[in-house]
Amino acid sequence: MFQRGQQRFLRKQLNTPPRNQPVLKSQREIQIMREAGRVVARVHEAMREAVQPGVSTWDLDQIALEVMQKYNAVSAFLGYRGYPAHICTSVNEELVHGIPNKDKVLRGGDIISIDIGVRYRGFIGDSAWSYAVGEIDEKAAHLLRVTEASLYAGIEQMVVGNRIVDASRAVQQVVENAGLHVVREYTGHGVGRQMHEPPQVLNYVGNDPDGNLVLEPGLVVAIEPMVQVGTWQTRTLRDEWTVISKDHSLTAHFEHTVAVTHNGPEVLTLP
Ligand code: MF3
Ligand code: CO
Repeated sequence: MFQRGQQRFLRKQLNTPPRNQPVLKSQREIQIMREAGRVVARVHEAMREAVQPGVSTWDLDQIALEVMQKYNAVSAFLGYRGYPAHICTSVNEELVHGIPNKDKVLRGGDIISIDIGVRYRGFIGDSAWSYAVGEIDEKAAHLLRVTEASLYAGIEQMVVGNRIVDASRAVQQVVENAGLHVVREYTGHGVGRQMHEPPQVLNYVGNDPDGNLVLEPGLVVAIEPMVQVGTWQTRTLRDEWTVISKDHSLTAHFEHTVAVTHNGPEVLTLP
């Protein structure tokens, strides 16, 4: 096989456009992705148990690693563009890509978004969830409820004949009707043998050609609304990974890997 650079070179020679068509998955491939997704769900079950005041995000990373190993899966994040951990752990104003750290200890009243991706038999499962640490206040609870509801509103639209933008619009409506803000700089994505495949799945109606893509059976995407209390804008910290809300307001992130089937949307990242 060619290496990436050589492929690009050949494409240039032949004057063919870069591939941006989604790769549809066969029944057999979707069965493997179901298993990959189940591993992700098992890791989330362990996270739900482990998230307690006094636990560090590094502890969570270790627990996640153990569960992945138990099911013969590996982290899809470790080493991805140099990412240094097995999962992403983002606390309060941290939105995504928070790096697990021994010094980051959870306190009652925090919320933590945990993003988990694994590779299993060549395929990726990708799912994020935001958890309450002990008792949280009503503002935080509202943020979690709305963001989860927006994810499911998006998933409901993943039916044959709809377009990607129908999911984007559904997410945005739930978030904005609740007076919250949906992040624009980060999006959902196709998923399969690669963590990030076409199409892009915006969480708002924007001008993105991928929004026009008509859904077909075998399309698999990760839908992942990222929602903030005070603004849709974000900023990246000096570690060059951690993304926070620009105004330091609370944030949440819910994500599932979803297959479009003849029988409607199938969430693959379930136990
Ligand atoms: N799960 C994230 C996504 O859906 C990717 C995590 S970034 C990584 O885009 F670098 F940690 F892998
Ligand atoms: Co994702």
